[in-house]
Order: sequence, then C-alpha cells, then structure tokens
Amino acid sequence: MPEFEPDPRAEKLREDHGFDIISREALSLLIDCAVAAAPERILEIGTSVGYSALCLAAATGARVDTIERDADKLAKARELWRECGEDDKITGFCGDALELVPQLVRAHRYDFVFLDAAKSKYGVLVDEIYDFIDTGTKIFADDVNYFGLVKGNALPPHKHRTIVVNMRKFLAKATDPKLFDTQLFDMANGVAICTKI
Ligand SMILES: C[S@@+](CC[C@H](N)C(=O)[O-])C[C@H]1O[C@@H](n2cnc3c(N)ncnc32)[C@H](O)[C@@H]1O
Repeated sequence: MPEFEPDPRAEKLREDHGFDIISREALSLLIDCAVAAAPERILEIGTSVGYSALCLAAATGARVDTIERDADKLAKARELWRECGEDDKITGFCGDALELVPQLVRAHRYDFVFLDAAKSKYGVLVDEIYDFIDTGTKIFADDVNYFGLVKGNALPPHKHRTIVVNMRKFLAKATDPKLFDTQLFDMANGVAICTKI
C-alpha cells in the first residue's frame, strides 16, 4: 500500500496545533486500518482543527461525521476542509460527544469509528456505540497509554487519576474476548484497534 501523504495545508497546522493532532506514527496506522476497512461512513470523536478527519476522508473516500465541542476549532476545521476540497464529505458537529454520539449512532450506520476525545469517557462512548455497529466494525482508539500512566496498576498522580482509572476500565472492556478482538500498539501514546465480535 503506498504511503498516505497528508495535504501540505493540513500538515502546516501542526506548527500551531501539533499537541492536539494525531502523531504521524499513529496516523499512518489509522489510515492503513481505515483504508483496509473500506468504510462508507466514519464516526470521529474529537475533531480539533480537522486534520485527521481530512486525512480519513481523502484516503478512504468515505463520509466522515466528526464531533468537536470547541466552536473555534471546528471553524478552523471547516476552513481547512473547504480549502482542501473535502468539505462535501465531512460534517462537523459542534457539541459534547456524550450528547451527540447517542443521536448520531441512531441516525446513521457507521462502519469505522475513531475515538480521539474525552479520554476519560472512552468506555462510556463505546457502550453507546457498541449495539449500533455491525460485527467486524473497527473502533480505533488513540492515546490509550495516556503518557505511559495506564500500564500496570500503580496509582496515578491525582490530576490524571480519573482519566487513567477510566482508561484502564475501557481497556478491560476492549480486551474482553466476548466483545472485541483487540490489538494494542505500543506507539506514540498507545493505540487500540478493537474489532467488534
Ligand atoms: C486530540 S484532539 C483531536 C485531534 C484530531 N482527531 C486530529 O488528530 O486531528 C481532541 C479534541 O477533542 C475535543 N474534546 C474533548 N472532549 C470532548 C467532548 N466531550 N466532546 C467533544 N469534543 C471533545 C477537544 O476540544 C480536542 O479538540
């Protein structure tokens, strides 16, 4: 498979928003995984300034519905999608993923999901999504190691405790063989690719 090259206009956003954008290593895995899944409609949770949604739409040709609670970031994302000519394929929804996900999964059939926001809520979001996706559908979850704090059982620093404890609960669910066939990747901040059983 030829290496996917993000649009240079998207790549430029890394200068200002790099901390918020998927790492190049995880992006490469995301794009390979999404292209292999050949989805028709992707749900992305966590748009930021629209980088990964743009890459997903450009690489797969799928429709992408993406959720972001920060209206300023979503405005930048819409500008990027327009500039790059992908705005007819991508819809940005402004609001809290916890409110929007239950509505969107009831309204559309998603055949690929990218989880990249509300890190302490991955488990809750997966519960909302699970019954509305088909067997074989992949959920790609980024940052599941959360700066190396998730592995093991050590009590994390207080300010990260909720995210780390909840991420451990999500990983317990993601690796439950009755629910998912899951591959864990020790790259960037950790990736889980969960295929619904
Ligand atoms: C890591 S960034 C997404 C990066 C993007 N997927 C990319 O790689 O280009 C996570 C984004 O999720 C948003 N976010 C966090 N919690 C959220 C929530 N509960 N609902 C909607 N958006 C949320 C943040 O504002 C942030 O912009």
